[in-house]
Amino acid sequence: DRIVFSGIQPTGELHLGNYLGAISNWVKLQNEARSNEQVLFSIVGWHALTLPQNPKDLSRSRADMLATLLAFGIDPKRSVVFYQEDNQCHTELSWILSCITPVGQLRRMTTWKSRLATKRNANSESEVDESILNAGLFTYPILQAADILAYRATHVPVGEDQTQHLELARNLADSFNRTFDPKKSFFPLPSQLITPHRRVLSLKDPSSKMSKSSPDVSSRISLTDTTSEIERKIRGAVTDSIQGITYDPVNRPGTSNLLSILAGSVDEDVEQVARRYEGKGHGDLKKDVVEALDGLLKTPRTEFERLRQDKGYLSAVAKEGAEKAKQRTSYTLQEVRRLVGLC
Ligand code: TYM
Repeated sequence: DRIVFSGIQPTGELHLGNYLGAISNWVKLQNEARSNEQVLFSIVGWHALTLPQNPKDLSRSRADMLATLLAFGIDPKRSVVFYQEDNQCHTELSWILSCITPVGQLRRMTTWKSRLATKRNANSESEVDESILNAGLFTYPILQAADILAYRATHVPVGEDQTQHLELARNLADSFNRTFDPKKSFFPLPSQLITPHRRVLSLKDPSSKMSKSSPDVSSRISLTDTTSEIERKIRGAVTDSIQGITYDPVNRPGTSNLLSILAGSVDEDVEQVARRYEGKGHGDLKKDVVEALDGLLKTPRTEFERLRQDKGYLSAVAKEGAEKAKQRTSYTLQEVRRLVGLC
């Protein structure tokens, strides 16, 4: 039976990349799930700690992320939604997996390599001083694999930036199976589920992805943006000087990104949307993107404002989610301990 698992970090506000690349798919998978399927979503606070966080802000952000997910349609009656740090099984499994993870594989992770690269530039040295990077940043993908494998998840809906992490999760599942359970293969190999909007691009620099770490807030649309903020950001989105509108992600990344955002917001096929703009210009397209985004975000925005005030409800949801999450992983950990000889 299908077990869907995914996670999101509780830092910053949810942006359009998160929504079109992952959360919209979470909601679909939840709504289409049959009674024998399990759907679980986690707000991953331990992963957030790999970068410096202000404790007060982090505490607020995690509750806000829960309110955000609920506002977008994650339904605690249909999905298990919980804070990662409420289920210790993740860290225990992470430790066990770390003991079968080749360090070389972690060094090949692009996320790690890009961290090293930023340090290299800052110091303008060819030798990188790894002592200034924390170990959590390095072992981060093992914890992510543990998140997934603790539920013996079969499907993981994430954006394209998570592909390499998913590969590691499959490698670790496979090597655990071969080492400790060659006959029965205890862990299924989880597959990645991607949306047509697997990589939403920055509005200011269409050669990079939309991300919450960019210092330029006008590069991304956030859930809480007002209509006039959306208007300003979309009007300022970088496109090109080619006449007319065509969907051509390689040669026209900025224009194609806007088409993709429009298609995602109204849940239509991007090629089909593009055909409607053949004889039109960027002004027409941008106007419609603003309208579509405003339509998409209006209800969740109001829901979010209402839910974030309701602290009692949010804690009740988190508590129930944590209990269900722990129930689902206790068998896994008991079996893992038995298979490795720790019982
Ligand atoms: P995070 O919190 O960075 O992002 C959450 C989800 O949003 C997707 N995403 C995007 N998709 C398309 N275009 C973009 N510009 C864009 N930006 C972000 C991400 O792919 C992700 O699906 N390591 C994960 C969290 C995690 C996790 C897990 C995910 C921890 N454990 C287990 C799945 C399963 C992360 O940092 O996502």
